[in-house]
Amino acid sequence: MTISSAPGKIILFGEHAVVYGRPALAVPVAQVHADVDVSDSARAGIWIDAPDVNLHAELNTLPSDHPIASVINNLFFLLRVSPFPSLNIKITSTIPVASGLGSGAAVTVALTRALSSHLNYSLTDEEINAFAYEIEKLHHGTPSGIDNTVVTYARAVYFIKGQRIETFKIGEPFTIVIGDTGISALTRESVGDVRRLWLYDKSRWETVFDKVGEISFTARRVIEAGKSEMLGELMNENHALLQVMGVSSPELDKLVEAARAAGATGAKLSGGGRGGNMIALVEKGKAPALAEALLSAGAKRTIVTTVG
Ligand code: MEV
Repeated sequence: MTISSAPGKIILFGEHAVVYGRPALAVPVAQVHADVDVSDSARAGIWIDAPDVNLHAELNTLPSDHPIASVINNLFFLLRVSPFPSLNIKITSTIPVASGLGSGAAVTVALTRALSSHLNYSLTDEEINAFAYEIEKLHHGTPSGIDNTVVTYARAVYFIKGQRIETFKIGEPFTIVIGDTGISALTRESVGDVRRLWLYDKSRWETVFDKVGEISFTARRVIEAGKSEMLGELMNENHALLQVMGVSSPELDKLVEAARAAGATGAKLSGGGRGGNMIALVEKGKAPALAEALLSAGAKRTIVTTVG
């Protein structure tokens, strides 16, 4: 049996603008993860058991664009696996789906790692990441690649599409409370809507993306210098720009405001937006009270995570 796991993620700064080449910062969230078990099967076929999404099926019965089938078929094509072996694949995940926490990327990465190592192919992280990016493109239109990157390396990343994947030093650990609106929202749709705005008036949106890029750039320096108390204002500015892009929602705004009222130094949506999760920066000791305040304001669940 071969087991693999991949974490969830949050985008600290720079979502959406990252699709247009501006820097963004993302960190893994180890409290939630996707886990894959691969073992040889006595029955012919590739038997997939993914109870969280109520999937119990043989590979050939799934449509070819099914997210899990597309990982297996594309990976076996790439590795020239023929004939297909008989396998049992169990997939579980504690990462809420379509919530901005990278659930799709985490399943792709954990499944790719477990399958390739079960079949004795040793893929490097670079190869896993490049493959996961191809899969993200199949399902998300024009992704930047930040989700698969942070999930593959499971480290804080400073990411510029097509250019740089840098990890960076966290000068002083800091505490983030994640609040889930419970509303599922497809990243593909919010990314597509921002693209339509950009196509309509490129110079206006390039200016907005520049401002976001400057925030990410500054945030990295602030984090490296261990001055996380200065991140709050940057988060608030970033959220305001995401509102301008039209990717926030009344539910996200309500949680962001509730977080600020309950003592967060700053708060913003995280990921594709429209639903999914928001994040708030808070002094460690105040995190439980902030989590309570988010639940009272309608959050369906909260996660307290330490960055660094
Ligand atoms: C989604 O986690 C982040 C977005 O910027 C999309 C992307 O970068 O591919 C909204």
